[in-house]
This record gives sequence, structure tokens and C-alpha cells, in this order.
Amino acid sequence: MADPSGPPTNAGWFERARHVIPGGVDSPVRSFAAVGGVPYTVVRGQGAHVWDVEGRRYVDMVQSYGAVLLGHAHPVVTEAVARAAALGTSFGAPTPGEVLLAEAVCGRVPGCDQVRLVSSGTEAAMSAVRVARGFTGRDRVVKFDGCYHGHADTLLAGGGSGVATLGLPGSAGVPSSAVADTVVVPYNRVPELDERVACVIVEPVAANMGLVGPAPGFLQALRTACDDAGALLVFDEVITGFRLGPGGASALSGVTPDLWCFGKVMGGGLPLGAFGGRRDVLAVLAPGGPVYQAGTLSGNPLATAAGLAVLGAVTAADYDDLCARAGRLASGLEGAIAGAGVAVQVPVVGPLVGLFFGDAPVTDYESARASVAGGGYAPFFSAMLERGVALAPGPYEVMFPGLAHTDADIDAVVEAAAGAAASAAAVPTAG
Ligand SMILES: Cc1ncc(COP(=O)(O)O)c(C=O)c1O
Repeated sequence: MADPSGPPTNAGWFERARHVIPGGVDSPVRSFAAVGGVPYTVVRGQGAHVWDVEGRRYVDMVQSYGAVLLGHAHPVVTEAVARAAALGTSFGAPTPGEVLLAEAVCGRVPGCDQVRLVSSGTEAAMSAVRVARGFTGRDRVVKFDGCYHGHADTLLAGGGSGVATLGLPGSAGVPSSAVADTVVVPYNRVPELDERVACVIVEPVAANMGLVGPAPGFLQALRTACDDAGALLVFDEVITGFRLGPGGASALSGVTPDLWCFGKVMGGGLPLGAFGGRRDVLAVLAPGGPVYQAGTLSGNPLATAAGLAVLGAVTAADYDDLCARAGRLASGLEGAIAGAGVAVQVPVVGPLVGLFFGDAPVTDYESARASVAGGGYAPFFSAMLERGVALAPGPYEVMFPGLAHTDADIDAVVEAAAGAAASAAAVPTAG
């Protein structure tokens, strides 16, 4: 519910927010800087939909950037969280929920022996890199241009998502010494590695430069290159984990990394992440080993309850369903937008759907940037929002059809896209 004494409009709330929150948003990806206008301020969500302070309903393709899989306010989650909250919200002592969630993760992801729970994907990736450095005794980290691994200093180079949307080469405030050992290389090409490399961190399906799937053999070749150099392979499955399937991208690709980063789906929409991997590697962590990592709210009982509820509710058949919905969305969007005379590509990898305007193939960040430079996204986004469909307000994000999106919801998105593409095509674009 909006505060009844508050402004009745999105513009009013945004104005008020800007006084007390830098840029009016708590995460830059929520800003409308790249698409124009003011953000819709959400008061509630139900299933596939969200409602803003003006009472407008949107089909929500954002779904908390992939943290929500069952749809908003799913009773399985809300009841689990309410039950947990009634027992206490945080203790600073071990709880059964942490153990159960760790078992649920390790039971689903082949090769992942142990996980430690944290509170965000950023923490997960930051900690995985520290473990890799501590285990190997090496400093260098190789990451891929356009992949995003959260906002830890070491990994804020060549970042996708909001970093890309705002056109930042990295981030001010990150000293050059913090990224001196970070090497950024193009996605879908296997880098040369040597004995200085602690780890290679990769989104096994890149979903922060739009949607870019791994080229056939890319992940396997990375595995071999890491083995040859004695470096660890880290899969950042914050988006793909428990969304591509119960075992995520590693199970689907058959490539087993040494370390994983998780977040989003496994927290059921609450603040939770995890890093995990081989038992011998994780043995370097304190208290048993010399690599320090900690968190007051790590393994928070509300978050573990939500995560367990989601993982427990999703069946193998649900994943098939999810992929079918994504396929329906992708082919529908492609037909609708191309039918309006606008060149478009709608990549789909399992349940993830991307959107690139133009017809040049997109295989890495450079080609993604070239598509975005055409300027097709902003007018399309605004025209979709007018038609009651909420996409992410940045061209480097992906769509998250979820288990709450019915065929009717997907068809409504496709119908909106036909009109939006026609009206957006009439707007002059850059480039
Ligand atoms: C692949 C990937 N890794 C890490 C992160 C960071 O997660 P968080 O925003 O929970 O810190 C994100 C966030 O979008 C992500 O997509």
C-alpha cells in the first residue's frame, strides 16, 4: 500500500525519493536514465503482475531481475516467510534452515560439495574470488567483458547490466590497484591463461549484456584451459542457478566448475546468495582455514525459509513449462516486432529471453553494444510500458518469464509488442 498521506503519482514519489535517495533509486538498474521518464513506484505484486502507486497494472517481465520464479506473493513463499518471522528474524547462531538450504543446493548441483550462505550475489562473487585467490596463492582474476558479477571492487571492470547501461568503463571510487589483477577478455573466446591466474569467473549464460549464450564448446574449452594453467573455474550462476533447471547451467552444460556463485532464485525474493564448490577448495575458509569471510545476516532464517519454499515447490515439469513459456514469448515477440518492420533478434536460452534490435549477430559485449547503439530499445520500452508491460529500463537486461506467467499473459506481451514496435519505429533513433 502506498502511504495514503504520500503523493498519488509515480512522478510525485520519484521527486520525493530524489531528495533522500541518490538518484531516487536504491540500485541504478531501476533508474529510467537510459529510457527517459520516471520509474513506476510499485505498491504490490501478485503472480505475473505488479501495480504502481497510480493503480496501473503491468505484466511484469522484470520479476526482481530474476529473483522471483513462482511469481509475486506466491503463498508458498509468503506463508513460509510468515512462519519463520514469527519464530524470530535473526539470531547470530546456526539454524536448521541454513543446513536444509545448503543440502538442497548441494543435492541439486552435481559437483557442488558445500556452500556458504551470504546475503547477495555481490557477496557471493566477491567471496568466491577471495577463496580462489587464497586456495591458489595467486592474484590474477580473469573475467569476461559484459559479464556482471556484482559491485565488488575487483570485479567492477568491463561490467554489464547497469554499468553498461550507464556507459561506464568501470566505476569511480575503485582504485586502479583494486583492478590491477583483473583481466577483462571478450566473451565466447577462450583466453590464454598462465600460472599467475587464480580463477576465471564467467556467467555460463551471459545475461547482463542482453542475453548471449555460450558458443558451442566454449565452457568445455574454458574448463580445459583452467586445468592446464592450474586456475580455478568459477561459474557465476546468480541468474542461471535454479532457473535454467534444478542443477543450473553447470548441470545442463556438463561442465563442472570448481566454484559457484548463487543468488536470486535460491533466496525466493529475499536477500540471499551463496558461494560453493569443491570441499577441498572451501577448506581454506575461516574458521578452518586462513581466508576470512563473514556476515551478521548470512543464512538469515526468513531468507532460507523463502529459498527452501521455492526450491521445494519447483518440479522438473515446471522447468519444462518455463522453457515452453519462454519459447512462446520469444517466437511471439520476434514475429510481432519483425512484423512491424523492425529488425530484431530475440535470443532464448532455456527460460531466459533477450531482445536485440538490428540483425547483426550478437555473440559478445562488443556486438551487444553495437546493437544497443542503434537506439531501438528506449522507445520500445516506453511504448511497452504505456501498454501495460514492464520490461527492464535498460537494454542490457533480459526478460524473466516465470511460472506465474500464463499463456494469456505472454500473448498480452506479444500483442503489446506489435503495437509498441510499430509506434517505436515511427520515433527517430540514434545511429
Ligand atoms: C550474474 C550476476 N552475478 C552477480 C550479481 C550480483 O547480485 P546482487 O545484485 O544480488 O548483489 C548479479 C546481479 O544481477 C548477476 O546478474
